[in-house]
Amino acid sequence: MVIAYKLLTDRKGVAMLTRMLAQLSVVGVCCLLFNPALAAGDPQAGQFIFSTCAGCHSTPGKTHVYPTYHVPRLSGQTGGYIKVALEAYRSGERNHPTMLANVADLSDTQIADLVAYLTQVERRPQSPPVRGNVSAGREAAQRAGCAGCHGVDGKTPLLPDYPVLAGQHESYLAHTLRDYRNGHRPQAIMLGIARGLSDRDIADLAAYYASLPPALDYVRYRQPR
Ligand code: HEC
Ligand code: HEC
Repeated sequence: MVIAYKLLTDRKGVAMLTRMLAQLSVVGVCCLLFNPALAAGDPQAGQFIFSTCAGCHSTPGKTHVYPTYHVPRLSGQTGGYIKVALEAYRSGERNHPTMLANVADLSDTQIADLVAYLTQVERRPQSPPVRGNVSAGREAAQRAGCAGCHGVDGKTPLLPDYPVLAGQHESYLAHTLRDYRNGHRPQAIMLGIARGLSDRDIADLAAYYASLPPALDYVRYRQPR
């Protein structure tokens, strides 16, 4: 306390404090850049593993049945979010038997490999068809402050493990919002947000985010040679 007081009351001290803070933020940036949890993956190994995923995630327009909604686009998604999602299916926290069956046996290294592959695969994002009310969705997003975390353009999330929404399938966005609301995806932040949304809000918000200039694509998979 005494040292902090001295630093703040003395001009040299303030300069020193500023330097210390600058150094700290450099360390912070380095930690982000060299985050071992994300840095380790091998994209080629990921490409091999992805052959088991391609049937669903590399078929444009593929749907899941009961309930019916589009399989999500993964290419262009943040690596951090792909990792969070895969871990949540693997642990059963995200209640989804199909995805659980696909990821149950993946190791942490294999998840890192998949992330490395998915974040560098060639992509050509294109807009999905949209049926709902985009302008009502824009207003609902403003009311709820979605941009604070997902970015005004829906593709510059606040943190590296938050998802990109722009150009995701409308039916998938609506399905996820319902799953946060009904607890199938027990995630504290989005539960708090989704609880306050009506069915109409969900339909409008899904239309709005699907309609934004797209960042996402299906995975244009090529068998490794
Ligand atoms: C039989 C079809 C199928 C296969 C095979 C499959 N997935 Fe999925 N995947 C889905 C469906 C459906 C969802 C949406 C699940 C939900 O409602 O949460 C999904 C969700 C995801 C998500 C979350 C995306 C998001 O935006 O929330 C990721 C990441 C993912 N899958 C990666 C993979 C990987 C990696 C593999 C292979 C190891 C794989 N999937 C295999 C159908 C499949
Ligand atoms: C305080 C930050 C925050 C705010 C505000 C916020 N979100 Fe999210 N959102 C998140 C996080 C974190 C996740 C990832 C949750 C998880 O791990 O399942 C997420 C996930 C989502 C997903 C799932 C995407 C996918 O591919 O699985 C959708 C859709 C979504 N948010 C839409 C919205 C909408 C619409 C709003 C405004 C009504 C909103 N969010 C407001 C932080 C936020």
